[in-house]
Amino acid sequence: MFEGRVAIVTGGTRGIGAAITEMLAKSGAHVAAGYSKGKEPAEACVARLKADGASVSCHQGRVDDFSDCQRVVDEVLERFGRVDYLVNNAGITVDKTLRKMSNDDWHNVLNVNLSGAFHMTKAVLEHMIARGSGRIVNISSVIGETGNVGQANYAASKAGLFGFTKSTALELANKGITANVVAPGFIATEMVKAVPEAALAKVIEKIPQRRLGDPAEVARVVKFLLEDGSSYITGAVYTVNGGLDM
Ligand code: CAA
Repeated sequence: MFEGRVAIVTGGTRGIGAAITEMLAKSGAHVAAGYSKGKEPAEACVARLKADGASVSCHQGRVDDFSDCQRVVDEVLERFGRVDYLVNNAGITVDKTLRKMSNDDWHNVLNVNLSGAFHMTKAVLEHMIARGSGRIVNISSVIGETGNVGQANYAASKAGLFGFTKSTALELANKGITANVVAPGFIATEMVKAVPEAALAKVIEKIPQRRLGDPAEVARVVKFLLEDGSSYITGAVYTVNGGLDM
């Protein structure tokens, strides 16, 4: 389906990002998976997918650093010739109530989750405009809609992605480029499993489907948005949360 196409997936070797990398690669794309730290697990993820016949490469870079983003995009363009899809998935949590949250806790989360999407979009934009085509998917969160105790920084960053994506979609609508949001709920990843047990039990009670999501359940929506037939979808938000925001 995506043969000959090239995707960049930030945070693409762990959690939801790894599921996206796997699904796009199995659909025929070359996937350039970004990671910031943990070279060995990143390379292990890529090696596992390659052993399955997928075309995947991994690229170290911090999304909160614009020059790293530009370097990674240039590296991908040089090695693979094009970028069709950008999936801004990299994200972190530093959960603390506001009274305990430091300025650094605030800025670090905003810099990765929100500025990271800006940096990567900016780095790839001129290439996509020159080709007259491209797809951008930003991974937000149900927390961007609902807020959460202990997540003022994370909620603000994920809410910011809604406005950022819609502005991107508006500016690029006449240039063959779409930009959409996928907003997952609580998905079974290391990030969610790190939530204190009692707090997580309370969250699951509130999810109408009473379970965590599977990373592949998010990845399939990303894949759908990248398909050629999804060309009239832009500036949209797709939630994947077991009904949590109803
Ligand atoms: N509702 C209302 N108030 C709450 C609360 C809740 N659920 N949990 C804690 N509070 C209040 C407490 O009552 C307390 O208030 P007082 O000072 O007035 O008594 C205050 O918050 C601090 O409470 P604690 O000392 O117990 O809290 P803490 O500082 O040790 O930890 C916390 C608080 C950081 C929020 C911790 O409970 C926590 O980590 N919760 C989980 C947060 C969470 O759900 N994270 C999701 C991560 S996964 C993800 O983000 C992916 C995604 O996109 C969905």
